[in-house]
Amino acid sequence: MKVDVLLGLQWGDEGKGKIVDVLTPKYDVIARFQGGPNAGHSLEFNQIKHILHSIPSGIFHQKQINLVGNGVVIDPVIFREEVDSIRKLGVSLEGKLMISRKAHLILPSHRVLDAASEASKGITKIGSTLKGIGPTYMDKTGRNGLRVGDIQEPDFQEKYRALKRKHGDLIKLYDYEYNPEEIEELWFEGIEEIRKYQIVDSEYEINGFLKQGKSILAEGAQGTMLDIDFGSYPYVTSSNTVSAAACTGLGIAPNKIGEVYGVFKAYCTRVGSGPFPSELKDDTGIYLREKGSEYGATTGRPRRCGWLDLVALKYAIMLNGVTCLFMTKADVLSGFETLKICTAYKKNKGISDQVPYDFKEINEPVYTEMKGWNQDLMRIREVSEMPAELNEYIRMIEKETGVPVTVVSTGPNREQILFTDRT
Ligand code: GDP
Ligand code: IMO
Ligand code: MG
Repeated sequence: MKVDVLLGLQWGDEGKGKIVDVLTPKYDVIARFQGGPNAGHSLEFNQIKHILHSIPSGIFHQKQINLVGNGVVIDPVIFREEVDSIRKLGVSLEGKLMISRKAHLILPSHRVLDAASEASKGITKIGSTLKGIGPTYMDKTGRNGLRVGDIQEPDFQEKYRALKRKHGDLIKLYDYEYNPEEIEELWFEGIEEIRKYQIVDSEYEINGFLKQGKSILAEGAQGTMLDIDFGSYPYVTSSNTVSAAACTGLGIAPNKIGEVYGVFKAYCTRVGSGPFPSELKDDTGIYLREKGSEYGATTGRPRRCGWLDLVALKYAIMLNGVTCLFMTKADVLSGFETLKICTAYKKNKGISDQVPYDFKEINEPVYTEMKGWNQDLMRIREVSEMPAELNEYIRMIEKETGVPVTVVSTGPNREQILFTDRT
């Protein structure tokens, strides 16, 4: 058996959560491999809209194991809120949730450091979700971090206090007002919650599942354009978001990767600061935001909207080895007479079809125009009902990328999905 990987190809919020939820019945295990509560993955079914942050999006199904991998960073406070709200829906977590012993913990002081760092940056701030992601990954690579396995050790309290002290010294450098004790109690309550689940050596667990012939779907967070190496640095998150991160974030070898499902919106959005070549700062952008309900699932911030960027999409497909494309939010594009797709960037010296080292080199996007469609896609249940113009839009993407669009999502609900059978 191989591990299939599902990830975002743009700037996050492509609709990964919804698609994972739909695909879960085909798998035995759903495993998150990176990111943390900066992620907000929305699922809609039975008139319920639910947002997950650190728990994999397969949790609402009965039989599947949901594994939080070693590449994930966990905030016990948010984790506890998450399990509470899942339980409130009558969903049991017993025997379904596994957490890697090697996943790193986000401390309250990591969040303070995140906020202090952002405040010090002024107008050059990243637009972080302020969940402590950057400082936690910094402690991981700096070899100072606290891991889930540490909570089982007798010196856990000591380790916690030592790291908190270190953070206190760092925060002083920022001249930032804060009260570190404020959420400490909740944090330790969260630690007690984590203890209730199976804390495992997830690399052995997942390779064991593979040996038993179990099918595994690895769920990514954020998107390729937010990758720490390949995104629009420094306006990125602090983890690798590409498919290679499924190997390091779960402990699986590259030759164990099967399909790579790349999720993208039929247009583009970005939340937070940083370059966005095809951004629409006009009424069309506002229209897309309102029609697509483009407000952050984690922070509620309005998302910036723009046309589909094929240069960035092709780059993401190359980096991830995408085998199938899943297009979401096609329904939001209904009603446009003309749609635009960015196919290249105009630079000072000519035109380029590559993502540049520095986005400042881009003067403006080069667009191809496509005919729009009017039908309300949300009601469509058969591929044969898709309007001809939508088929043309998809064909154009497939021709340019060389990858089939095998899934078209036409609404936030589980049922609003079309499998195209394209190869
Ligand atoms: P994720 O972070 O990639 O899981 O995406 P988010 O959940 O942050 O954002 C996607 C938003 O679009 C959520 O509100 C989803 O409910 C919604 N959504 C997902 N797929 C579709 C779709 O095909 N059409 C529409 N209209 N909304 C969708
Ligand atoms: P999902 O998994 C969209 C963005 C933030 C900010 C930058 C760095 O829901 O797609 P961080 O908190 O990581 O330090 O923020 O990355 N960002 C996301 N944008 N979707 C996400 O996750 C994101 N996670 C982080 O807005 O610009
Ligand atoms: Mg999201």
